[in-house]
Amino acid sequence: MSASRDHVLLVGMMGAGKTTIGARLAAAMGRPYLDSDLQVERATGMTVPEIFETRGEAAFRREETAALRAALSSDRPAVVAVAGGAVLDDGNRSLLARSGTVVWLRARPETLVARLGSGAGRVLVQPDPAAAVPRLVEQRYPLYEGLASVSVDVDDRAPDDVVELVRAALVRDVRVELGDRSYDVRVGPGARRDLAGLLPSRARRAAVVTQAGVGVAVEPGIDSVRIEVPPGERAKSMATVEWVCRELARAGMTRHDVVVAVGGGVVTDLAGFAASCYHRGVDVVHVSTTLLGQVDASIGGKTGVNLPEGKNLVGAFWQPHAVVCDTDTLASLPAREWRSGLGEMAKYAFLGLDDLDVLPLAEQVARCVTLKAAIVAQDERESGRRAVLNYGHTLAHALEAAGLAVGSGEAGAAGGGRPEPAEPMRHGEAVAVGLVFAARLARRLGRIDGARVARHLEVVERYGLPSTLPDGVSPAELVELMGRDKKATDGLTFVLDGARGVEVVPGVEPAAVLDALAETAAEVAA
Ligand SMILES: NC(=O)c1ccc[n+]([C@@H]2O[C@H](COP(=O)([O-])OP(=O)(O)OC[C@H]3O[C@@H](n4cnc5c(N)ncnc54)[C@H](O)[C@@H]3O)[C@@H](O)[C@H]2O)c1
Repeated sequence: MSASRDHVLLVGMMGAGKTTIGARLAAAMGRPYLDSDLQVERATGMTVPEIFETRGEAAFRREETAALRAALSSDRPAVVAVAGGAVLDDGNRSLLARSGTVVWLRARPETLVARLGSGAGRVLVQPDPAAAVPRLVEQRYPLYEGLASVSVDVDDRAPDDVVELVRAALVRDVRVELGDRSYDVRVGPGARRDLAGLLPSRARRAAVVTQAGVGVAVEPGIDSVRIEVPPGERAKSMATVEWVCRELARAGMTRHDVVVAVGGGVVTDLAGFAASCYHRGVDVVHVSTTLLGQVDASIGGKTGVNLPEGKNLVGAFWQPHAVVCDTDTLASLPAREWRSGLGEMAKYAFLGLDDLDVLPLAEQVARCVTLKAAIVAQDERESGRRAVLNYGHTLAHALEAAGLAVGSGEAGAAGGGRPEPAEPMRHGEAVAVGLVFAARLARRLGRIDGARVARHLEVVERYGLPSTLPDGVSPAELVELMGRDKKATDGLTFVLDGARGVEVVPGVEPAAVLDALAETAAEVAA
């Protein structure tokens, strides 16, 4: 994973409490705490007043920018107290904007003056803090306001109260509107701590269904049993559903209790399906712990398992009672799983969420959830518009079914070189290739122009994902597999871009498909 876009960045004037709040917030969120002034002092071996005195403010600002860059380059999400004046620099402001959620600790000037006292150790307010603070406030407050997506007033508040307000402001709810089956998706760092309050009030017991590799602890706040299913996709089987249901029965779970699925798409698909049939349906709450799960699998109520004959062939629409997308859980995701989620994110770029990748991570997830929620609300059972969520998936499913290998993916990042065969493609990697293929097919059918195809390539490559067919692929086999796609009810059916946006296009000629496949493979040699 590259540098995190999920830092919490505290900005505000000296005296607003960034250091105290930052350290306590970091402890509460289980994150490292970084202070950009302290980083400068460490790097230079001098105190801030000493740097100002011996080298001047311009030199200090250069050190400050370097310290900020170093702090924000970490891929582990941190809480960062940003020096008050760092926002004066345009470059620092854009770095902050793309590195996480900027939180402004806002204080009235009189609060700051009272807290700063004589201003000892604060060179910029010397010699008269009461005169200097309003000047600095006038200069900086518009910049803080422009940058911050969260503002918390700190006047008259104890530090722990401010910490709680910041934590609450970092998570947001996205509503999935489905009449009496509507529910909220809580998104943001630390969101899983709210789990107890999101369970149905009638539930007396919870069955936490998870997988060993997930490693995310939750506290349902009521009596609970843990059910651990086998690792990997093989957990999505009828045999595991039976075993989970029997575990629920052995634990004495009633129809008023709740299943809590903690994991990626495998766990939420499986546990959701078990919940849909146990006692003819019990509540399920998803705590989604993979990027793919958060932006896609956990939202919308599709649940199911695989058969030896094919993926997801048995299932049910079973809407969860609530979904939790705690972006903190993503920090431990293996790189390959992270990339798999990025493939789904790349898809959203063509469904209306352009330039998603410049936003903080929690905002990216929230926007994907919002878009998926809106589509599901229009077409819960996929009788129409919901099919656009399968953009790029027809070829992806064929590639996955063919079990084709792909390299570590570095080739995609490097611009489409030939990947080394290694593990089978992850779903999102296959979707990325599927998006580029779908664009080429759409161009061959006269639906989009070359510039739009180039945009597909640009998005996929910006995410460092593969854009070409892997080695050893048989176009004829892929066409045959795509013809067997569940959605292919009228000849070869694809979801394709066009003047009206992305839509379902049935009856596509195999010759056009073969040509688009050849073009996608030819790119490898280019
Ligand atoms: N229901 C839907 O609408 C829908 C949509 C898309 C995909 N899916 C399904 O989702 C499944 C794929 O989901 P996935 O990509 O999340 O894979 P996954 O559930 O297999 O998880 C991937 C791997 O990451 C591990 N893991 C999970 N959370 C982790 C964490 N926080 N830290 C470290 N490791 C963690 C898991 O143990 C697993 O090994 C497929 O079965 C697919 O069919 C369903």
